[in-house]
Amino acid sequence: MLYITTPIYYVNAEPHIGHAYTTVVADACARFHRLMGEEVRFQTGTDEHGEKVLEAAAAAGLPVKEFVDRVSARFRQSWDELDISYDHYIRTTQPEHVRVVQEVLDRVHASGDIYFGEYGGLYCYGCEAFYLERDLLDGLCPDHRTKPTFIKEENYFFRMGKYQGWLIDYINDNPDWIRPERYRNEMLAFLKEPLEDLCISRPKSRLEWGIPLPFDERYVTYVWFDALLNYLSGLEYPFGDLYQKFWPAQHLIAKDILKPHAIYWPTMLAAMGVPPYQNLNVHGYWQMAEGKMSKSLGNVVEPGYLAARYGVDQVRYFFLREMVFGLDAHFSEAALIARINADLANDLGNLFARSLGMAFKYRRGVVPPPGVPSQADKEVTAAAADTAAEFLRHFPNLEFSRALASLWEFIGFLNRYIVTSEPWVLAKDPQSADKLDTVLYHLLESLRWIAALLRPVMPKSALKMSEQLGLGLSLWDYPLPQTLQWGRLLPGGPLQKAPALFPRIEVEEK
Ligand code: MSP
Repeated sequence: MLYITTPIYYVNAEPHIGHAYTTVVADACARFHRLMGEEVRFQTGTDEHGEKVLEAAAAAGLPVKEFVDRVSARFRQSWDELDISYDHYIRTTQPEHVRVVQEVLDRVHASGDIYFGEYGGLYCYGCEAFYLERDLLDGLCPDHRTKPTFIKEENYFFRMGKYQGWLIDYINDNPDWIRPERYRNEMLAFLKEPLEDLCISRPKSRLEWGIPLPFDERYVTYVWFDALLNYLSGLEYPFGDLYQKFWPAQHLIAKDILKPHAIYWPTMLAAMGVPPYQNLNVHGYWQMAEGKMSKSLGNVVEPGYLAARYGVDQVRYFFLREMVFGLDAHFSEAALIARINADLANDLGNLFARSLGMAFKYRRGVVPPPGVPSQADKEVTAAAADTAAEFLRHFPNLEFSRALASLWEFIGFLNRYIVTSEPWVLAKDPQSADKLDTVLYHLLESLRWIAALLRPVMPKSALKMSEQLGLGLSLWDYPLPQTLQWGRLLPGGPLQKAPALFPRIEVEEK
């Protein structure tokens, strides 16, 4: 059972590759676990309230509802373009979500964990949050580099501080809960200081675009208290079967929103009496040559553009292979092209084309029956088993890059196996017919394994590979552990000729 979520993205900006990365990771995980025969629910969506969204709508000259509908649809369209197989798309302006937020507010208020009080503090309008002196960098907001404004007003507060001890114990008792470790340590360090209560309302006089507090109509809900609850409202909490079935979640986020997810969210859950999420999985940033990607730097790369230009699967592969989950990585089109040409066109594409080409040339496009395997053939079978074991170990651990690296080692191994077993020499000698059959069979069966393992990463290409290998859907649609049994490629089956899987990208010299 897996409930996997992405952050719900702010609709104040268009989708870019940062959003696309998290969403592709979630999709690859969802697909992987479905292939393992598990029940999966994959949720993504958009975060549509708050100051920033209101400003963006005003800048676009549109009524706010029309604006959020439009940008939310843009995100959806990008996810279609990237073959994202989400089960549920949540929007915080949906009545079902609003109802859950108000119910939770009422309940936590009634239990005494939300109280009314006055607070004066340094407020960053960009972050929509109060800062303490010690959080500032040279007196400026660490994110926006602007001077926060001192404001004093009456608001509602969530007794977050009350749960500090519980949270520290929980993190210590569950070392894997926030991962990778560096982010867990960062949060433990943060929790060494006293944890303040969280201001969870905004006066309507300042901001109208939010969910009204059910117990005081002068206020709307702070956007994070609203947004985090999407993970539950999407399961029809508290009474839905989905909630019973799928909670707790596996959350995926980047390090920018670590604090709300590692501090606010678990303490909110504790106050509600809901068990904590399963894991918080935190990745780093895609950096551009000029630093972080941002609208103001004008270096935003749209996922739809990349997919149209280089191919959806190529982009998905690049994301998962290039970034070590948890660390920052550099993005450039040159790096993407290099990966496509080296890993996909050359290594995998050539292996596939050569193997099928020889099967057509020497065996009329039919899978030959394997004879008695030589030592070299046996090594292929063993390497396939080792590779699959490595892949199945690393992939669910978010070690996508490692999983793919081990698969590419196998691809390299097979390319060398072709060279050393010299099928073109065997083909000249009728006495070696059996040997040639065996080599070809080992190549084709290995390709079936490779296609099976690549399904979560490159769904379309994996399907193309399986079609070229003559696998009917019935032979293909098994849980991975069954697919990965040596010998399931049936001799006698017809192969299919097709154009190259991954065309080389030619770069024009400037
Ligand atoms: N709306 C909040 C999240 C609420 S979740 C209850 C938000 N939205 S956001 O649009 O700013 O999206 C932030 C997320 O987008 C990051 O956590 C990450 O998943 C993704 N990324 C945005 N820029 C990124 C990079 N440059 N690199 C990697 N991921 C990035 O925060």
